[in-house]
Amino acid sequence: MSSTSKNIESVLVETRVFPPDNRATQGARISGMAAYEALCKEAETDFDGFWTRLARENVQWTKPFTRTLDESKAPFYQWFGDGELNASANCLDKHIGTPTEDKTAIIFEADDGAVTKITYKDLLTRVSQFANALKAQGIQKGDRVIVYMPMTIEGVIAMQACARIGATHSVVFGGFSAKALQERIIDAGAVAVITANYQLRGGKELPLKAIVDDGIALGGCTTIKTVLVYERTLTDWKRVEGRDISFTEALAEVEGQGLCPPEPVNAEHPLFILYTSGSTGKPKGVQHATGGYLLWAKLTMDWTFDLRPEDVFWCTADIGWITGHTYVAYGPLAAGATQVVFEGIPTYPHAGRFWQMVEKHRVTIFYTAPTAIRSLIKAAESDEKVHPKNWDLSSLRILGSVGEPINPEAWMWYHRNIGHERCPIVDTFWQTETGGHVITPLPGATPLVPGSCTLPLPGIMAAIVDETGKDLPNGAGGMLVIKRPWPSMIRTIWNDPERFKKSYFPEEMGGTIYLAGDGAVRSADRGYFRITGRIDDVLNVSGHRLGTMEIESALVSKTDLVAEAAVVGRPDDVTGEAVCAFVVLKRGRPSGDEAKQIATDLRNWVAKEIGPIAKPKDIRFGDNLPKTRSGKIMRRLLRSIAKGEAITQDTSTLENPAILEQLGQAY
Ligand code: PRX
Repeated sequence: MSSTSKNIESVLVETRVFPPDNRATQGARISGMAAYEALCKEAETDFDGFWTRLARENVQWTKPFTRTLDESKAPFYQWFGDGELNASANCLDKHIGTPTEDKTAIIFEADDGAVTKITYKDLLTRVSQFANALKAQGIQKGDRVIVYMPMTIEGVIAMQACARIGATHSVVFGGFSAKALQERIIDAGAVAVITANYQLRGGKELPLKAIVDDGIALGGCTTIKTVLVYERTLTDWKRVEGRDISFTEALAEVEGQGLCPPEPVNAEHPLFILYTSGSTGKPKGVQHATGGYLLWAKLTMDWTFDLRPEDVFWCTADIGWITGHTYVAYGPLAAGATQVVFEGIPTYPHAGRFWQMVEKHRVTIFYTAPTAIRSLIKAAESDEKVHPKNWDLSSLRILGSVGEPINPEAWMWYHRNIGHERCPIVDTFWQTETGGHVITPLPGATPLVPGSCTLPLPGIMAAIVDETGKDLPNGAGGMLVIKRPWPSMIRTIWNDPERFKKSYFPEEMGGTIYLAGDGAVRSADRGYFRITGRIDDVLNVSGHRLGTMEIESALVSKTDLVAEAAVVGRPDDVTGEAVCAFVVLKRGRPSGDEAKQIATDLRNWVAKEIGPIAKPKDIRFGDNLPKTRSGKIMRRLLRSIAKGEAITQDTSTLENPAILEQLGQAY
């Protein structure tokens, strides 16, 4: 049995339960299940009143809203639609004049270990100056701005400064390619790119600005007027006159200008667009609104992480992903937390870096992805020197997991070796589209079961249904849905409202229920949710979402070589899933060294088209792909081949059965 099927099995029979102990419940914001249930009850009995109360208590409005939820244009729901606010003011200005103003907002640890700290007051000054600089470059409320930045204080400043002037940011992960960047610039119609000359990761200096140049050079980026360049390193960069300006120059132009007043925007004003993979070749621009998103970012910091004033919070996600938006750039600041921002990678200069940093900064809440945990388990098992036991982890209070299912083995290791059997683990299920956590344990309330994200947060009406939208009983696997809207939900797909409706609100279910795209099952005893994985053509590799169609399009765009390609996922012990590509070449099936060379070329091609994270781990060549007589590729067979399983499915509709054996062979 493969280790992954063992994992699935162990989740199914998981009987271990870890109730929160006194340390976790005492003084918790939501203490004990009765408190959790009371909040759920409040939401059920007075949905509107529940959200109204929370939005008034947790957000500062420059113009109070009078309408909470407007469902008249469902599924284009509107929240707090006539209210006005500014997201940056809610993260920074609101702390001024309170004890938080002199508190450290960010502890930045650079790739080389250098540490810089910045208080809330100083962060406000820096954001304000940069916001003035953006305005001086002609960037206005409603404009879209691409942020292609390393994990730095400046990355957070760039996002906050956009929010401050009412510009909509679209952050592109620093590992994405020039082509991916170009597509996003065009789709968003961005007027500017904020980038850095280089990024530092794992002791290496990697270009960013040069990739922006390459992306724009691919053509079509006619809306771009300015490229702002943060000089992260001393290395020179090539300037395009009339378009490029360094941070230093842009800031010098506005020197002496006072505080940039936060621009009030409507609650529904798009705070950001974040591109993510779906089941077609084209990434979706997930659009989030200012008011509802900010409310949930702040509130989930308080609820899921039970944030307290003395906490040191560390979310290891990059700002290029939704986790880095909600739990680095907005949530911790809105909640007044001290947080760690880390530029580097977990394995440099050694695989004990995370644990060393927990000790050094006395981190109390640590939030990371199962992939990172699994790879650090491997490292610790093969090298005593990087085992977490070498560091003092006693400051830790709460642990979190995000991005993919955490297998019980990894959960138990995390619990024992990092949490010392003392820290609750919050396995937070959510998505780019949900804006923040939706199904998660509460550290001071929920009894934990390894491998389960347990129960929905109050106000989130999650359920498991069949294809017609009918509720399924506990124990029956089905599709995860959220039956009522919630404030931080996706508002639309930028430029594509039809795709928004089709992707998330299927007609067969009535057109108003949010379909998450994941399969799930609830446990018979507690009704706990367990996510069984995507039900669409989306893969989850190291917690990163990748569309199989996107990778297929990249492969077939190598038109001189590739005739046809099909991509599926297969389980992987470290990355959760791995990309497996089946390729038909125009010149026929290669073998031996030639096949190896072509596979390497194709991997590099995908890295160039999308980014290194999308590189197929396995590439198999065939004379053809398994197809039905009507020409449809039989992906379920390819999935079995990728896993190395014997084919037990019915292959009678297959046009060319012999192909299965060929594709099963390595070269
Ligand atoms: O399949 C689910 C998985 O990640 C998907 C969302 O990916 P993305 O939009 O990139 O956001 C990742 C960070 C929130 C989901 O559809 N996923 C996320 N968290 C979990 C998870 N699967 C199981 N357990 C989780 N805790």
